[in-house]
Amino acid sequence: MTKRIVVLPGDGIGPEVVDAALSVLKAVAARYGHRFDLTSGDIGGAAVGRTGTSLPPDTLQACRSADAVLLGAVGDPAYDAAPREQRPEFALLTLRSALGVYANLRPAKIWPALEGAGPLTPERVAGTDLCFVRELTGGLYFGEPRGLDTVAGNAVNTLRYSRAEVVRVADVAFSLARQRRGLVTSVDKANVLETSQLWRSVVTDVAARYPDVRLEHLYVDACAMALTLDPRRFDVVLTENLFGDILSDEAGAVVGSLGLLPSASLGLGVGLYEPVHGSAPSLAGKDVANPIGAILSAAMMLQHSFGMAREAADIDAAVGRALAEGARTRDLVSHEAEPHLTCSAMAGRIVEAFEAGVSPA
Ligand code: IPM
Ligand code: MN
Repeated sequence: MTKRIVVLPGDGIGPEVVDAALSVLKAVAARYGHRFDLTSGDIGGAAVGRTGTSLPPDTLQACRSADAVLLGAVGDPAYDAAPREQRPEFALLTLRSALGVYANLRPAKIWPALEGAGPLTPERVAGTDLCFVRELTGGLYFGEPRGLDTVAGNAVNTLRYSRAEVVRVADVAFSLARQRRGLVTSVDKANVLETSQLWRSVVTDVAARYPDVRLEHLYVDACAMALTLDPRRFDVVLTENLFGDILSDEAGAVVGSLGLLPSASLGLGVGLYEPVHGSAPSLAGKDVANPIGAILSAAMMLQHSFGMAREAADIDAAVGRALAEGARTRDLVSHEAEPHLTCSAMAGRIVEAFEAGVSPA
């Protein structure tokens, strides 16, 4: 198969982790006889530096006509005081909205080799295997009116959801639960927020079309606690944009490192794939980042956009094997003195594990 991928390395550690993911994709292409045509584009602070805008029109145009988009990270403290339209994050939100990727899948599972790597005890985290379905193109991130009046000293953001927006993302969650363990936990703040009351009632309506899937509702504060006390109880966690942003970082800590988590943003057309972590400016350029989130995002791209389930499973198995053999990046060891690999060396170990592990064609 030939597929056209637009690659957006972005800011901070983005370029390093994207390079790592591309090295794995190269191995997949060679092994399975696929062709991946790669086009790079500018985005984020890196794009402002080069073109004066964080999402140049040619980047957006290329993304719209690609088979899939693979993104590293956006975010650069140099633009912290810049107006909203010039901030790197604005480019990512505009891209998500333009591509119509309303459902963001963020799987978080514990790798057996990493049961002791995080802050929680192995007994608590063993067997954790959940997937967030985060609404991605609505809520507080996009609601109008919005604004900051520094002179008057006040600011406003708007939390707004429509029935249609909740229905479509809930459908993604219930369909996914059918392929998993059949449980959807819908997370809201319906004891306080009207948007959450709408959310809860719409999700309950959608659930009627999936009698084989169990639905439970949980307040977001209780969910934050349950994620650390009993992460195994979760299968699919369905939630709105901002809650999903916050809870998915927490899940990163539960499974050992945010650097492990991939994501797939799906919706009306082209899929967008990016690790859950940010640009991590303090790590940039040092070849110390964990590339696994980006590598697994590439695997999700193969699965969801290209229908290459076997190739995706082979990447997943290669990551598991490299970890089982003791390969660790800095974020996965507790002391600098413990042996660990650079970002590029970890990618190399995963490529080796992939090449050693694929079943004969
Ligand atoms: C994420 C990130 C983004 C978000 C930022 C960079 C805009 O934190 O993908 O989780 O908040 O959605
Ligand atoms: Mn985030």
